[in-house]
Amino acid sequence: MKDFDNRTIYELFTFFIRQPCWNGYADSFHAVTPSALQELNREAASWLFGEVADLGCGAGKQIPCVSENQKVTRYTGVDMSKKMTKKARWMARQFPHIEAQIITDRIENVSFGPVDSIVSINSYYSWPKPEMILSHANRNLKENGVFVLATVNNQLNMERLLKTAKADLISHPNWFEYVKYNLKICKNPNYRFVSLDTLIRQVQTHGFEVLDAHTRFYQGGLSFLVLKK
Ligand SMILES: C[S@@+](CC[C@H](N)C(=O)[O-])C[C@H]1O[C@@H](n2cnc3c(N)ncnc32)[C@H](O)[C@@H]1O
Repeated sequence: MKDFDNRTIYELFTFFIRQPCWNGYADSFHAVTPSALQELNREAASWLFGEVADLGCGAGKQIPCVSENQKVTRYTGVDMSKKMTKKARWMARQFPHIEAQIITDRIENVSFGPVDSIVSINSYYSWPKPEMILSHANRNLKENGVFVLATVNNQLNMERLLKTAKADLISHPNWFEYVKYNLKICKNPNYRFVSLDTLIRQVQTHGFEVLDAHTRFYQGGLSFLVLKK
């Protein structure tokens, strides 16, 4: 009964607070792609092969990158935001040569595996129970499968990062909205901006071997991990 109550409260919180936040972010996030984000997506896609699951796929920004990777045979994006997944479906239609499906649901509710590769970019920090999703990812990944996990960390300086992107994007009609949402995300006390070391320890306790780990993207403000099951 206690578990049911906690889950109900959590779902209500998600519906009224968290969900509108990501839905509101969808338009600007879909339209604006700073070069730092594009570099990150390209690097992540280069590690993927076979059937790929993208956890917290957002507006489907991985789709153009995975579609350039000949080793990828199929893409499944999972995201709980209706507006984000609508954008992701639009994106998938622009790259019809890659077989893609987009699922609107919580990652932890979907049996998306067994897959050869998993990618998750900048979603981890918003997971209230990351342990639950990491275990779920492990269960849905094939033996020797690869998991690319990237998330902003405790060294992130969002103002500095946005200042760097400003010169390229200042005339974009969605730029100011994009800045507003990104600054809001950084100030959200419920989000977890953990250090690279903390993240490494956590993934190791969930059965992953670390093949590569660095903070070269986002001026040191992003932890990029390549994991193997
Ligand atoms: C900042 S966006 C990143 C989107 C995409 N990965 C990218 O890099 O372009 C974070 C996304 O994670 C999704 N998300 C967070 N927690 C989730 C969960 N438990 N289940 C499904 N989606 C989730 C949000 O809805 C949001 O679209």
